[in-house]
Amino acid sequence: MSKTILVTGGLGYIGSHTVVELQENNYNVVVIDNLSNSVKDVADRITSITGKPVKLYIADVNDSASLEALFELEAIDGVIHFAAHKAVGESVQDPFKYYRNNIDGMITLQKIMYHYQVKTIVFSSSCTVYGDTKNSPIVETHPVTEAISPYGTTKLVCEQILKDLCKHSGFKGVILRYFNPVGAHSSARIGELPLGVPDNLVPYITQTAAGLREKLTVFGNDYNTPDGTNIRDYIHVVDLAKAHVKALDYAFEMHQNCEIFNLGTGKGHSVLEVIKAFEKVSGKNLPYVIGARRAGDVEQIWADATKAEKLLRWTCQYDLSAMMKDAWKWQLAFDDSQ
Ligand code: UFG
Repeated sequence: MSKTILVTGGLGYIGSHTVVELQENNYNVVVIDNLSNSVKDVADRITSITGKPVKLYIADVNDSASLEALFELEAIDGVIHFAAHKAVGESVQDPFKYYRNNIDGMITLQKIMYHYQVKTIVFSSSCTVYGDTKNSPIVETHPVTEAISPYGTTKLVCEQILKDLCKHSGFKGVILRYFNPVGAHSSARIGELPLGVPDNLVPYITQTAAGLREKLTVFGNDYNTPDGTNIRDYIHVVDLAKAHVKALDYAFEMHQNCEIFNLGTGKGHSVLEVIKAFEKVSGKNLPYVIGARRAGDVEQIWADATKAEKLLRWTCQYDLSAMMKDAWKWQLAFDDSQ
């Protein structure tokens, strides 16, 4: 019989792509989402891709009564936990919002999972836990003691809570540390929803190309990298979503344990390389200027993802140009739908 998976934040950017992959791999999916950074319509968009309805609870994972009601009604076998705030800059301005929402949400969810003896969980973490390191490619055993923002701290604390529960309370946990997720589903029916001025590079690029922003500012070209701009490991969101299904399969099969996996392509690209790749697939000239460095930016970071490749039997299928193509397709489809 198919297993039933609760996906918290299942209408968000990575959550929605993961729900598609779960449904396409015959998992039953129940979503809980408070719509704080998503819209209800995403559920219908998912269905238009998979042909399967999304069972949706509009509620907050911090609300233990709603969560308990959900666990009473649904026979949940495992959980993928995405629901969290994710803006690094905002977390510096308002750290308590991040501690309260992200850490409390994790505790509330784990407590109810424990109560209902649901102990299989995949947790959404970030390469931000590695802080400002110069040791790329980064392996999972790299020290993670210095978070560079309150957002990063919430990821570290949640990882630690899960490790405890795996050690002492019979949980089976998989922690996924994402590098830079970009792109959208190739159907252009789901993608990252723009909310105000984007902080992240790729939505900023596509919005600029679409004429919604005047120009892109490249944050510094005086770094110690080949072209002077920052290097990141960009990963297609569909590759990332597929890794969640593999991680869940892995978690169900393993014994009480906690495993951590980096999810990236293993390749670093500079900001200027991303711009060039975008220009090539879109046929557009992107207006940009070189500006000052952005506070808190790590110079260069990319993943060693061999552990995920070996143990999860997962590899990335999409390269940078496919990421840019799908990001652009999504931008155009989104503009048309407005
Ligand atoms: N950049 C620009 N101009 C922009 C936006 C970004 O030059 O307008 C540059 C940044 O300086 C950086 C690169 O593009 O060098 C990527 O920046 P993003 O904001 O897209 O991504 P970050 O690497 O800063 O952040 C991502 C995730 C965070 C996570 C972090 C971990 O968005 O959630 O990686 O390092 F915490």
